[in-house]
Amino acid sequence: MPLMVEREQTNTVASAGATSCAFRLGSTSIDGKLVLAPLSGYNDQPFRRICRRFGASLVYTGLISAKSIVYGPPPFGNPRTAEMLQFHPDEMPVACQLFGDEAGVIVDAARKVASLGMASIDVNLGCAKPKVAGSGAGASLLRDPAGIADLFARLTRALSLPVSGKIRLGWDDASRNYLEVARALADHGAALIAVHGRTAVQGYRGEADWEAIAEVKRSVSIPVLASGDIKQPGDIQALLNATDCDGVMIGRGAIGNPWIFAGRHREEIPWHERASLVQEHLRMMVAFHGPVHGLHRFRKHLRGYLSASGLPKGERHRMMHCDDVEVLVGWLDETDAAAADA
Ligand SMILES: Cc1cc2nc3c(=O)[nH]c(=O)nc-3n(C[C@H](O)[C@H](O)[C@H](O)COP(=O)(O)O)c2cc1C
Repeated sequence: MPLMVEREQTNTVASAGATSCAFRLGSTSIDGKLVLAPLSGYNDQPFRRICRRFGASLVYTGLISAKSIVYGPPPFGNPRTAEMLQFHPDEMPVACQLFGDEAGVIVDAARKVASLGMASIDVNLGCAKPKVAGSGAGASLLRDPAGIADLFARLTRALSLPVSGKIRLGWDDASRNYLEVARALADHGAALIAVHGRTAVQGYRGEADWEAIAEVKRSVSIPVLASGDIKQPGDIQALLNATDCDGVMIGRGAIGNPWIFAGRHREEIPWHERASLVQEHLRMMVAFHGPVHGLHRFRKHLRGYLSASGLPKGERHRMMHCDDVEVLVGWLDETDAAAADA
């Protein structure tokens, strides 16, 4: 049985935030320990920029298909893939995460995108979704540490950018090979490892095994990021204490809650302040994705923002189903005024 670390929250978030250099990603100095985890479907350019502004020191893209980059229309695949590869100076440093099932294709894709300004190329070695793992990519690669070693040897030979890997603890409980995989990465040129403390079969069930992440940190000499179960600011220092990692990734805890990177409890932030960020986020989404896709994709974030708003269910429902950007902005102004008047 893995030893589960006691999860005492602490209030000393300040030490987890900005520092002069928390760790290095190749030649890039990362000036804080808080990292936006890759979140496919959420981590577009607007969200990454917002998280950076609130204190994330490094932000990841969601996973991007190497096949789409290599075999899709030039220069960078289908329009959706090309959009995922648009970076803004405000969001740097960005780690660009690729997934694929063939080393040659991942290397070719990495070579193609390497000049787009990202700080590093990351390889997804943890996605358990059938669409990804079922095709031999993502967490499926964990079953073959020698293949991972070969992939990283090839990537680091081919690229001048640093290359990192994000892993889970193994495929299932019977094959928790995280130490073998971590050593394969570190021995074959990886600049950093991020560890989500669950197996692929576990999905998101149960608690992340922070002690296993600590074992990875102890077993390699490159920077290690811990991922799993940061829900509120107090969890940040607890995860750092439990693992001694160089930084922590925040995933679900950042959805509708970029204030977590500033160490703030969103429930304690006046609604008018939150509503104004919701409006700004919506406008950034519309500017980046266009009015139709912008509003559509924003709804996922809106659900997160509204979940902790305290607004009545009917009002949240009305906002979630609104299909007019200006009307939604107006409603947010009204709730803003109502909250301010209260
Ligand atoms: C909606 C969603 C999308 C995710 N997308 C990715 C992804 O594209 N690549 C990846 O490596 N991990 C992905 N993850 C895993 C997260 O990066 C993170 O490791 C996991 O959610 C545990 O951290 P958390 O408890 O802070 O959410 C995703 C998780 C969620 C919930």
